[in-house]
Amino acid sequence: MLTKGFPNDFMWGGAVAAHQIEGAYNVDGKGLSIADVMTGGSNSKAREITEGILPGHYYPNHEAIDFYHRYKEDIKLFKELGLKAFRTSINWTRIFPNGDKKEPNEEGLAFYDQLFDELLANNIEPIITLSHFEIPYHLYQEYGGFRNKKLIDFFTHYAETVMRRYRNKVKYWMTFNEINNQADGQHDLHTWTNSAVLCKDEENKEEVITQASLYELIASAKVVKLGKEINPDFQIGCMMAYVPVYPYGSHPADMMASVKVMERRFLYSDIHVRGEIPAYALAAWKEKGFNIEYTEADLQVLKEGTVDYIGFSYYMSAAVTTQPNIKGDPIPDFPEAKMVRNPHVKASDWGWQIDPIGLRYVLNTVYQRYNIPLFIVENGFGAYDKQDENGKVVDDYRIEYLTKHIEQMQLAVVEDGVDLIGYTPWGVIDIISFGTGEMEKRYGFIYVDKDNQGNGTLARSKKKSFGWYQRVIESNGTELSNRDE
Ligand code: BG6
Repeated sequence: MLTKGFPNDFMWGGAVAAHQIEGAYNVDGKGLSIADVMTGGSNSKAREITEGILPGHYYPNHEAIDFYHRYKEDIKLFKELGLKAFRTSINWTRIFPNGDKKEPNEEGLAFYDQLFDELLANNIEPIITLSHFEIPYHLYQEYGGFRNKKLIDFFTHYAETVMRRYRNKVKYWMTFNEINNQADGQHDLHTWTNSAVLCKDEENKEEVITQASLYELIASAKVVKLGKEINPDFQIGCMMAYVPVYPYGSHPADMMASVKVMERRFLYSDIHVRGEIPAYALAAWKEKGFNIEYTEADLQVLKEGTVDYIGFSYYMSAAVTTQPNIKGDPIPDFPEAKMVRNPHVKASDWGWQIDPIGLRYVLNTVYQRYNIPLFIVENGFGAYDKQDENGKVVDDYRIEYLTKHIEQMQLAVVEDGVDLIGYTPWGVIDIISFGTGEMEKRYGFIYVDKDNQGNGTLARSKKKSFGWYQRVIESNGTELSNRDE
């Protein structure tokens, strides 16, 4: 039992994203999103991005867990779990099916009205991401995604529409989910889901994605400014993936490599929070001969649209070295360094390195860097859950993972003075994995009967961790013990 708790208004919650949970991909006027053309993959097989929907392929997000039709039943369970906050996204393509028209789709707007009403009636605060890998597919086909500056206006119009509509229902917003995932431009999965951009081999991918990212950052700043005009009580944040990259050893060159690799992760929050392009980025662009377009007016927008808080995901840490005798994965455009396994931490079945102390480290470094409130909007343990003979999932490994992370969170709040406003672990209910498209990479406290091929009844049942998280919330994070029910 921890003796000191979290602030009384601490937002204990759970997080998901529309495309991973809702399904109903083509009903009530919804358009195709970039997630709707991603096939199912696995731990060893990457998801494919297809040209539209092709026959003979399985697209797991089309049905997901059918939250669109079952949200009332699910919110009942969230209420029983004791959630004070629920993070999800608005699927842009429900509101603007193509993304570039003026008039919104009323049926899409009405769905989120009902969803938010249901949450509020159950005293659950909606925490809303505006863009969580759900850019309209049409904006890729017609404009090449965020390569095109016009997307700033399309995104702003969409955001303005929903912020006006839900101005009395939603207070906490975030603009682009894990915007810094795409940083080096080398992974199609990330450039696609963050920006609806696919790079050709002959292109300088980092340059392309730096430009697209800057357009997104400008769009985000515009929306922050506009949101404050719509409702001054809005709290509008950014959303970052923070994976701390430690120096593998104490060699000074390893330490410097860690600083340089971390710049990539910090660049986005540096702009979101400080409202200007940092010197290290300007120097790197010049050095690399990048031609990044922006105007004086854009720089002014960045200044005027700084965020109120930083939402971020934390799942794992990583390590970097410059030492020649250690094997690792090369880092594009940084040939003297490579990413290596950290021998001091274990990894999940998907190779994600489990490091609870890394969370305290992130909370400290980020808070010291920016001095604004932080919100952990994703954290969790993806695992293959098995139901026992009574149909129960005994997920002690998940309880252990979360307990250790909450303990570190508590230290950061109580001993380090970090201003942390909430914690919404990822996949409060089992959903489709973003990275692999699997259903069987599960994070939830609530089990959903469905497999990787899409078979199952979609029935919901409580895992052992459900009772555990219920006690955590009830005790405001002081009661973390794992009891047999
Ligand atoms: C984050 C995303 O990258 O991590 C989520 O914001 C995602 O959308 C989560 O689901 C976990 O990743 P995965 O690949 O295990 O689903």
